[in-house]
Amino acid sequence: MKVQLLNLAAQYNKIKGEVLREIKAVCDSQHYVLGKNVAGLETEIAAYCGARHAIGVASGTDAILLALMAAGVKQGDKVATTPFTFFATAGSIARLGATPVFVDIDPRTYNIDPDALETVIKKTKGIKAVIPVHLYGQCAEMAPINAVCKKKRIAVIEDAAQSIGAEYRGKKAGSIGDIGCFSFYPTKNLGCFGDGGMVTTDNDRLAERLRMLRVHGSRVRYYHDEVGANSRLDEVQAAVLRVKLKYLDKWTEARVRNAERYTRLFKKAGLEGAITLPHVEEWNRSVYNQYVIRVKKRDEMRGWLSGEGVGSEVYYPLCLHMQKCFRYLGYRKGAFPASEAAAKEVLALPIYAELKPVEQEYVVAKVAEFHNR
Ligand SMILES: Cc1ncc(COP(=O)(O)O)c(C=O)c1O
Repeated sequence: MKVQLLNLAAQYNKIKGEVLREIKAVCDSQHYVLGKNVAGLETEIAAYCGARHAIGVASGTDAILLALMAAGVKQGDKVATTPFTFFATAGSIARLGATPVFVDIDPRTYNIDPDALETVIKKTKGIKAVIPVHLYGQCAEMAPINAVCKKKRIAVIEDAAQSIGAEYRGKKAGSIGDIGCFSFYPTKNLGCFGDGGMVTTDNDRLAERLRMLRVHGSRVRYYHDEVGANSRLDEVQAAVLRVKLKYLDKWTEARVRNAERYTRLFKKAGLEGAITLPHVEEWNRSVYNQYVIRVKKRDEMRGWLSGEGVGSEVYYPLCLHMQKCFRYLGYRKGAFPASEAAAKEVLALPIYAELKPVEQEYVVAKVAEFHNR
């Protein structure tokens, strides 16, 4: 048996007719950029996330970049975030000439540790924004983060790239901080046919600024109030996303069911001690963009699984403070023990909505075989 980490075709085959019809309608209209599909999707995503505004942009990376710009982050400012995330989170900070200030994670959820963040905020001057990342589909511990940031007038920018639909104490990802950032990269729970992203906010002033920044800082065509970016979501992507959004809750429920099944199967196989299963806080609803286990002999197990036809992935093998491009920040190995240990041990298993129970049983059987060799 072969079980891929992700099978995009399984989803596409179910909605092919609908999606191709909408793409054809865009082609027939010959209106490709910022048209009625983008406007419609923005309204729908805002409603879905419980935010007043949603602004379509070219990617999740750009969503973060523009959010930072809208929050007024400039050269010389500092922005705190986790070193255990996809590169874009910190890359966007650095691209603005600002300095990423890393804060270690909670080893159980892999999200930024709010106590460590508070300590860093108290002892570091010049922190303008914080980017908590909702990693793998689970929201960061937002209440203490919002509280300390509010007191210090620091902007809270949620990196919700992996977490559309996730809930924190009943609030949806992207509506908890000041600005939410989403990615529609194909591997995400809501993925388009290329790159795409969205920014959400309740703040009218920030929303207006974001709309301006995505079109070269211009409110009136060819008149530029500030230097922005060319970061527009296109009509073909928005049309695809509008079709998919209708199915998102159903797909998320399937992911959650699959996660629960894995957990049941791992426990039944007696592997609970040998591997660490995902931990979701009781006040969170994870959308399981990834089902991530933790194992000591991770690389060996990954190789073994691959030989048995099971796809897996490591998100992420090298923490951001250890990346070559961030050497100038001066962090040393050992600076963030929880993040560094996670980078050595995490392994994402197939979790997509269409995954079959028999395939999950196979994955668990192969993990068990590895342990019992
Ligand atoms: C946590 C996180 N932040 C940011 C991004 C960037 O999104 P994109 O690839 O759409 O630029 C991604 C996805 O790749 C991500 O997983």
